Amino acid sequence: MGGTETDLNPQEQVTAANKAFEQEFERFVRFTGETAPTGLSLAEATAEERALAELRTRHTGKKSAWAATKKLIGRVEADQRAAFGQLVQATEAEIVAKLDAAEGNLKQLIEAHRTARESIDVTLPGRRSRYGHRHPITLLRERIEDIFVSLGYVIEDGREIETDFYNFAALNIPDNHPARGTQDTFYTTDGFALRSQTSTVQIHAMQRRGVPVRMIAPGRVFRRDTPDPTHNPMFYQVEGLCVDRGITMAHLKGTVGEFLRRMFGADTVTRFRPSYFPFTEPSAEFDFSCFKCKGSGCRICKNSGWIELGGSGMVHPNVLRTVGVDPEEYSGFAFGLGIDRMVGLMYNLDDIRLLFENDVRFLEQFE
Ligand code: DAH
Repeated sequence: MGGTETDLNPQEQVTAANKAFEQEFERFVRFTGETAPTGLSLAEATAEERALAELRTRHTGKKSAWAATKKLIGRVEADQRAAFGQLVQATEAEIVAKLDAAEGNLKQLIEAHRTARESIDVTLPGRRSRYGHRHPITLLRERIEDIFVSLGYVIEDGREIETDFYNFAALNIPDNHPARGTQDTFYTTDGFALRSQTSTVQIHAMQRRGVPVRMIAPGRVFRRDTPDPTHNPMFYQVEGLCVDRGITMAHLKGTVGEFLRRMFGADTVTRFRPSYFPFTEPSAEFDFSCFKCKGSGCRICKNSGWIELGGSGMVHPNVLRTVGVDPEEYSGFAFGLGIDRMVGLMYNLDDIRLLFENDVRFLEQFE
């Protein structure tokens, strides 16, 4: 740029630099008005903003003609220096004001475009949120709880880690009793094991509540079983206990029968078969007439017409004595049933292990 410019005197150089700016700024003049011009797309406005920024660097940056002009201030005659300095400053202020005005205007345009683009279209259909589902075992557990609560029973929680006393000894299963073998469980720290049955809650409930007591205790139990389509090392049981004065086996049969009629319909028949459990005397297992074929025989009941459900009996006097209840004054019945296999039958599952794989596509079918 040197050649021509040095031929000009300082004032002329200011005018020349200003003129060069004005020429290039020409296309941005439309952005210096009160309001921004309409009709510009976001892309156009952004391109203009970029061009304006480049123009600003070119005309006011360190290497610009304008910067060279400012250096002349020191070189003009001392008596003219003040006036020249003022001219340079005033001209520069004008240039900067014009650039700022155009830039402000363009930024406003861009902002308006962006706001419009990001605003919500209230006419668009919403996204439906997915509801969770209760697990089929939870569904059955809640139905059972409802029935027993309506019969005046309370629901007990129990614990999953137990001592030998609650899982065996207090339930009349002494050391070396063969019943321990069929309920081999998982041992944790010395003296503790995962409970193999919910019968443990009978003891806790009587210790805490005393008698009379009517309670059910749903919960998880654990056994060293190899998983197959009808077994899992972890499964769910519901325990029931009723202790009061004058309780007989008739109460047991009446209660279990009423429960099963409410579960599977008024025409459901219940039958009791003699059995053995260490914590009941006498003991019985109970079956109910198949909910599908009503007893005539089908695939679900393996053509027997009956579905086996659980164990029961009159609470053994030793169990009552262990918790300080006098068996001469009080008697009671207890029962226990597994609910995983029942869910399997009700929903026609080939494999109850499906219940614990937590595949949402499977679980969401039940409600
Ligand atoms: N606890 C037994 C089991 O896990 C089931 C059972 C049988 C519970 C008889 C009872 C009962 O309360 O009286 O196999």
